[in-house]
Amino acid sequence: MPFCTTDPNLRNDWLTVGSAAQLRGTDSEHPVTTRLLGNDLLLWQDADGAPHCSADGSAMPIRQCYGYLWVLAGDGTAPALFDLPEYAQPGRRIVDCGGIGVATSGLRVVENFLDIGHFPYVHTGTLGKVPHTEVAPYRAQVDPATGEIWATDCHFFQPRASASAADGIDAQYQYRVMQPFTAALYKSCPNRDGERDVICLFVQPLDEEQVIAHVLLVYFEDVLSDADMIAFQHMIFGQDKPILESHRPRRLPLSGPLEAHMRCDLTAATYRRWLRQRDVRFGVHAPTAA
Ligand SMILES: [Fe+2]
Repeated sequence: MPFCTTDPNLRNDWLTVGSAAQLRGTDSEHPVTTRLLGNDLLLWQDADGAPHCSADGSAMPIRQCYGYLWVLAGDGTAPALFDLPEYAQPGRRIVDCGGIGVATSGLRVVENFLDIGHFPYVHTGTLGKVPHTEVAPYRAQVDPATGEIWATDCHFFQPRASASAADGIDAQYQYRVMQPFTAALYKSCPNRDGERDVICLFVQPLDEEQVIAHVLLVYFEDVLSDADMIAFQHMIFGQDKPILESHRPRRLPLSGPLEAHMRCDLTAATYRRWLRQRDVRFGVHAPTAA
């Protein structure tokens, strides 16, 4: 296959190519185009609604799950996609916030998603506020059963934790990293005691330094419109995007002197160690490379 990486983490796992809704009205003669791992893809659906994908004339394994399309870029056996039981839970709203292009490594986008510490400075007045800058101790570990990262017991003062929040709350968070390019945030749900709203981040790596960050909300929400919920997420992501694009190198350093000078919180540090242990190379800065 013609993809630009041999990294088995990317070649042997499902990667998103965007919402399944983009296939409406397509067929093999009228596909939509996108990019993945440096290659152009054609996407369409057949008369039965089944998705299809080709790259350079070769058919690619593709499946639909959680309202999104997932492509397998390698030739090996497809693994199971991560579990997201909340997606099918009765009463939840499923709101696709669409994709936002970001000119950086997808690993930086995921790492930023995991970083609570930037809230008061980047999302002032919504997800955080000076002087409430202290991040209380929490735990981050790899689940041996699934290989996923879970950060638990995170809580943080937020003046306006969501589009529907009227007052500041001590928001309870859990972070989860399912794949190098997918993560989810579980946050206390103001409308259902004991339940958690879920924000999913599915990063589509166009190449090593260009991505589309797709955001999917799986919420209990009785009041807000889809447009309100999408606008809030776009406002938050719009604050992150210029900062993400200002980082140099664009690819994420995992070792060497660059990392020593960067502040990492516990989850981000766990993420970097997890990427190193998996020998992820796609989107990683290699200081000695030509
Ligand atoms: Fe942010």
